[in-house]
Amino acid sequence: MNENWIAPSILSANFAKLGEEVDNVLKAGADVVHFDVMDNHFVPNLTIGPLVCEALRKHGVTAPIDVHLMIEPVDRIIPDFAKAGASYITFHPEASIHVDRTLQLIHDCGCKAGLVFNPSTPLHYLDYVMDKIDMILLMSVNPGFGGQSFIPSALPKLREVRKRIDDSGLNIRLEIDGGVKVDNIREIKAAGADTFVAGSAIFSQPDYKAVIDAMRSELAKAE
Ligand code: DX5
Ligand code: ZN
Repeated sequence: MNENWIAPSILSANFAKLGEEVDNVLKAGADVVHFDVMDNHFVPNLTIGPLVCEALRKHGVTAPIDVHLMIEPVDRIIPDFAKAGASYITFHPEASIHVDRTLQLIHDCGCKAGLVFNPSTPLHYLDYVMDKIDMILLMSVNPGFGGQSFIPSALPKLREVRKRIDDSGLNIRLEIDGGVKVDNIREIKAAGADTFVAGSAIFSQPDYKAVIDAMRSELAKAE
């Protein structure tokens, strides 16, 4: 596994041939499959659920599947995603009344757990649960759609979270989601991210490997 993870968001893939798309993007060098779950309630869009996650596992996908829940409530569906083969399950703290309990539930189901922060969501949700988190996901767009522009305030926020992680001494991934492209991934890395979701930047291009390679060479320059 690479130190920097490229996590293509299948939101921008061709759903009519999803298995093939995931195979191709993994073959092109992706580390993780980013799986966006939307409910037309927490966010204004509707996507895919545990059945599709399970279908990808049955299709033969062995890479980690990073399930990003943009749904409310979250607890009822978490065991279903765990059974369907999710590796990471992340949720927005606003979508759970009992954040600590939800993090424990994800772990009890055998998955890694994470919290997701919308651009305007304060970081205080981290204060008492750092030891129960495997991943922190910062949104650099308002969730709901692919193809939006990176919101620059995510950069100082990344630096702040990077410091919190380093100060804690814990092993926590720092993921960024929204508007990540070849031309900004370097400064995003420099701000502290180690896991990079990219949907439209990858799936809108004919050659996934060319995009992922270009992202990796930008990442190398940031180190
Ligand atoms: C947005 C999703 C993202 C989205 C990113 O709500 O969480 O994962 O697919 O898409 P791009 O990379 O196109 O901004
Ligand atoms: Zn996402």
